[in-house]
Order: sequence, then structure tokens, then C-alpha cells
Amino acid sequence: MIERAPAKINLALHLRRRRGDGYHDLETLFVFSDFGDALEVGAETGLHLSVTGPFATAAVGGGDNLVLRAARVLADAAGLPGDARLTLDKHIPVAAGLGGGSVDAAATLRVLNRFWGLDWPLERLAEIGATLGADVPACVHGQTVAGNGRGDILSPVDPAVADDIAGTPILLVNPRVAVSTGPVFAAWNGVDLGPLEHTAWRRARNDLTRPATGLAPVIADVLATLEKSGAALARMSGSGATCFALFDDITSRDQVAADIALQHASWWIKVSTLL
Ligand code: C5P
Repeated sequence: MIERAPAKINLALHLRRRRGDGYHDLETLFVFSDFGDALEVGAETGLHLSVTGPFATAAVGGGDNLVLRAARVLADAAGLPGDARLTLDKHIPVAAGLGGGSVDAAATLRVLNRFWGLDWPLERLAEIGATLGADVPACVHGQTVAGNGRGDILSPVDPAVADDIAGTPILLVNPRVAVSTGPVFAAWNGVDLGPLEHTAWRRARNDLTRPATGLAPVIADVLATLEKSGAALARMSGSGATCFALFDDITSRDQVAADIALQHASWWIKVSTLL
């Protein structure tokens, strides 16, 4: 059994308030790309995980790996021993603003839900996912959805907005600098610049861009490169450092990707399409 784990992109992210529990209230538009990780499950006694793929080494986080934690939390909720052999094929860069750990945890919940014959609805898996990370519920759904609160209070977006987004050619660029989420949120200046209006997502912001750039200045170079490429829109995803550009057609996207690869041989570059 194989489950895809599409990369998560925050098309926009508005920060509204610092909370007392170490989190921030935000408003975000989660979208997903046809690029991502893949998770395979097979029969085994006990719970085992192996990691393959270009970012395997970076992803192996020992016992607290989010895939294993997701599997254990689901097994506990279901009263099962939690027998499975999981193989994670890791293509999403780690600590990159693309939800790597969260989409893997979400894919684990979905695939084991089938493998263990639970057949629980996605809403139930999303509730379990919320205990693993603020953006795991959105990743359980894995399609365009609006997030409020910590990012875990979900609401559907206007179907016209989701239709507008689906199929959009996207270019992802990461300068290969790992950025941890907590310090980026902590570096926010606390100024609320206003709500996110979904229908106006093209004019929206990512309020984590400035704090992330303060911690990893190369993000400004990535954004400037994408902005002058002729893309329809360029922005950072999540807490960075990955930035994305949206294009009207795949030919111009691929041309820009090739140009950037020549200019910045060390940057990670991926072309994809929004789901
Ligand atoms: O929930 P998760 O473990 O993915 O969050 C990682 C960190 O990101 C949190 O510990 C917190 O510092 C920060 N965060 C936040 N506000 C959010 C989401 C995450 O401050 N809405």
C-alpha cells in the first residue's frame, strides 16, 4: 500500500496575535502540490520505519520521528498493537516551510487507517493529527483549505478560489538553509497587518517573511530572483526558507527553473503543479 504525501504550501499566511500558549493565531490558505514524499506500508510484527530518498539523512530524527509518533498515536486511539513496516521516500527538504514532517504524519494516519482496516473519516484522523502539530489537520485533508487559530481550525474555501488555484504551475526554490519554525514565529514583531481575504489571495502576504529573512538573509535573494523572473506571483511558504513562484504556463515556469539552476547551482529547485 502506497500513500502520497503532497508538499504543503502556504499561499498566504497572516499573523494576527501572539497567544499565551506559545502559539500564534493566524489565518492561512493551505494548498498542496503534486510533488511530495511517498509512504509505503507492509506487514510486520512491531513498528518499523526506514527512510529512503534524497533527504533521507536529514529526515531521520530518531525515536521522535513524526511518522512513528503518528503511527503510535493512531494505534493507541484504535486499541491496536501497531504492527507495520513503513518506508518513507523523502523528497521534501526538511525544515523548509513545506510541511515535510506534517505531511508525512498525515500520510501515515491515512495509510494506516486503511492498512489496519479502521476506515475512520478524515475528520477523526485530523483530530488525532492536531496532537502532532498545528498544520497536521490541514495535511490530513491534503487539499486547498483555510486554516485559523494555530492553523488547525479548518474551513473550506470558496470552490471558485480552489478551482482557480488547482492546476497552477508552481516553482519551488530553497536555498538549502534549514530554518526552524519556532524561532521564526518568535521573531515576529507582533504587529497585526489585518485579516486574510481568500478571494484576494493574490494580494495577500506571508507575515513570517520578514522574521525568517532576519534569521536567514538568503531568503531575500531567493524572493528577489523569483520576483524578477516574470512569475505571476512570488512568496515564501510557511516559516521558510522555501519560496515559490506561480506561473500562467509550464513553459515559462520550466524556463525560469532552468535559468535559476544555472545561476544558483547550490539551490534546491523543483517544478510542480498545485492540486
Ligand atoms: O505545532 P508545531 O509543532 O508544528 O509548531 C512548531 C512551532 O511553531 C511551535 O512550537 C510554535 O513555536 C510555532 N507556531 C506558532 N504558532 C502557530 C504554529 C506554530 O507559534 N500557529
